[in-house]
Amino acid sequence: MPSWDPDIYARYKGYRDRPALDLLLQIPADLDPKVIWDLGCGAGEQAALLARRHPQAEVFGLDSSPGMLASAAKRPEKVTWLRGDIAGFDPPRAPDLIFTNAALQWVPDHAALFPRLAACLAPGGVFACQMPTAFETRHHQILRQVAEEGPWAAATADARLIQPTPSLSDYYGWLATGCALVDIWTTTYLHVLEGKDPVVDWMMGTALRPYLDRLPEGALRDDFLAEFTRRIAEAFPPGADGATLFPFPRLFMVARRR
Ligand SMILES: C[S@@+](CC[C@H](N)C(=O)[O-])C[C@H]1O[C@@H](n2cnc3c(N)ncnc32)[C@H](O)[C@@H]1O
Repeated sequence: MPSWDPDIYARYKGYRDRPALDLLLQIPADLDPKVIWDLGCGAGEQAALLARRHPQAEVFGLDSSPGMLASAAKRPEKVTWLRGDIAGFDPPRAPDLIFTNAALQWVPDHAALFPRLAACLAPGGVFACQMPTAFETRHHQILRQVAEEGPWAAATADARLIQPTPSLSDYYGWLATGCALVDIWTTTYLHVLEGKDPVVDWMMGTALRPYLDRLPEGALRDDFLAEFTRRIAEAFPPGADGATLFPFPRLFMVARRR
């Protein structure tokens, strides 16, 4: 489980917010949820938004990171913030809405997890999920290559938490057994990043965290970051206008229980 820093994650906020908002827009407008869970709620932005949108609902935000939850708890909205692992999610009352943005890619065994999440919904309840499909991207390929090749390989061997993305038809099958409506789509956002080494900076908030967690401050960590930065700079050079183009694919799904 990587450590999370709400301040680092909040950099590039506009780009990180956009898919969550795109997902929220696809939640059926007739849904009148009484129980809402945000799984991997992070600093609680979307759980708070859902609480404002559905003031009659009981809203829960679940996350494993104390730092993220401490940030979430400062919000004024009435949300119950809980520390726990999504892998063991077992709500006492059937949720009418499970919302989960940019979190389930960290949780293993989707073949078991997704049918279980769909099955725990109340009748007519909605599962709304967005995940980056990071494994296949160029920046993740470079991260794996650099991690496997250097003297840091042993220390980072168990940091490779992101798994290959199952096929869209797999997700359809896992959700369709219990759900009447299953809507699955992908979007690639072209992020236009500014500044020096912006792709590395972006990854500091997410994908690099499990690796850095395993490398204490010192020469090995510095060398790992230097080599990774060099390889990313080769793959993502800035254009004539100084901007670095960073394509970022994401997978969305909205399913409604029968
Ligand atoms: C990329 S952040 C997204 C946060 C928030 N959903 C958002 O969109 O701003 C991923 C969050 O998932 C949480 N997370 C990752 N794996 C988890 C797990 N197995 N159980 C609970 N939370 C988890 C992390 O602590 C982190 O806060």
